[in-house]
Amino acid sequence: MYILPILTLVPLAYSLPSKTRQASSLAPQIIEQISTINASLISLTTAVNTFDGTLLHVLPQSLGVITAETSLDAAILKTTFTTKHSGNFTETESNSVVGTLAGLIAPIQTSLTALSGKYKVFKKTLESPIVLLDLKILKAHTDDLIDAVTAKVVPASAGLLGLGKSIIDAAFDDVIAVYQGA
Ligand SMILES: *[C@@H]1O[C@H](CO)[C@@H](O)[C@H](O)[C@H]1NC(C)=O
Ligand SMILES: *[C@@H]1O[C@H](CO)[C@@H](O)[C@H](O)[C@H]1NC(C)=O
Repeated sequence: MYILPILTLVPLAYSLPSKTRQASSLAPQIIEQISTINASLISLTTAVNTFDGTLLHVLPQSLGVITAETSLDAAILKTTFTTKHSGNFTETESNSVVGTLAGLIAPIQTSLTALSGKYKVFKKTLESPIVLLDLKILKAHTDDLIDAVTAKVVPASAGLLGLGKSIIDAAFDDVIAVYQGA
């Protein structure tokens, strides 16, 4: 029974080097996942624009909006997860990830403007509190994604991400204020 403690140490010994080894960059997967976020944003905008609040349509159409918000949130969370597991980006990778993320600013603004414009309809159907909650969650998760990316880019790219984050936060805050009835 002398050998048992040694055997139990073996898995630990094998796992040690991988802990100190630098994780490889997942930039290509992250860029691919950002394009899924983009597609989810476009679907959300379409669902919101379709929402007319008429009694016959209210259930399927509001489900469409909630489903689109849920898919978007899942796409954001997945990208943050991948980013956290990535090694640091090279300068080229930093530029392309930041450039791809910057491409999300316009579709985010479009979705949020669409939601803002439908506030009265969502309020009438008593769904504005759900939308408000989703907006707060989406804002927090978007910020988490930007923070995760900021930790992996070269220092020169970090400032751009900070700028993008403040633009996106301001867009969220505007529509959140509308749904808070402010
Ligand atoms: C988002 O999708 C639109 C439409 O397919 C496309 O034109 C745009 O380049 C995409 N942007 C990003 C950041 O993937
Ligand atoms: C990764 O990049 C961050 C931000 O530039 C830096 O603080 C950190 O030391 C880097 N880590 C490694 C292992 O190079």
